[in-house]
Amino acid sequence: MNSYHIVLVILLSTCVALSIQDELKVSVYYESLCPDSVRFIKEQLTPTYKSLKSIFTADLIPYGKAIQNQENGKWVFQCQHGARECYGNKMQACALQQDVGDEKKIAFVDCVMRQNDPSQPASGGKCASNVGLAWESIRACTNSAAGDDILAAMGDRTHAVEPQISFVPTVIFNSTYDDDLQWKAIKNLRQVICNLQGNPDICG
Ligand SMILES: *[C@@H]1O[C@H](CO)[C@@H](O)[C@H](O)[C@H]1NC(C)=O
Repeated sequence: MNSYHIVLVILLSTCVALSIQDELKVSVYYESLCPDSVRFIKEQLTPTYKSLKSIFTADLIPYGKAIQNQENGKWVFQCQHGARECYGNKMQACALQQDVGDEKKIAFVDCVMRQNDPSQPASGGKCASNVGLAWESIRACTNSAAGDDILAAMGDRTHAVEPQISFVPTVIFNSTYDDDLQWKAIKNLRQVICNLQGNPDICG
């Protein structure tokens, strides 16, 4: 082995060491006008994402306890807190669809959920400009049939959860619901993620 090969071997083993941290997907099923969802996003998801984003990926599903059906080829949604909530959910679903990276998407959701009324277009506009997202395309999506399809896809995912979602927000790790982790995550998401990931150094 010449020195070039030795360097290569060292580089390769470093890569293997760095990738030992397993992926963990944290899915949050929530809705725009639900006080428990607001609290969870503000107090749990956002701070945990800021400090631990290197050890998990956040997967946001703004739909909650809504229902949907198609009438004459058009989606009709009914949301737990009324039609305004459907608009708010769709606005977030459209923002989450943008190709801008998780950091901006989560910052947008956090900002919108902190507004007095997270379902208002004014809240979306303000937060898009704060975070640096294109409000015009989010707004256009929210008012379009494409936006309905995006929200309906969130609905399909939500309705596929087993057992059926009974509390909003519902937090699911790696796509399998666990009742114990759900209630722990609502109180201390950071601790659940650290435990599942084997308490790496970043957890302190
Ligand atoms: C989550 O899923 C990833 C990839 O499928 C796997 O590597 C990891 O060990 C899982 N983590 C937990 C805590 O189940």
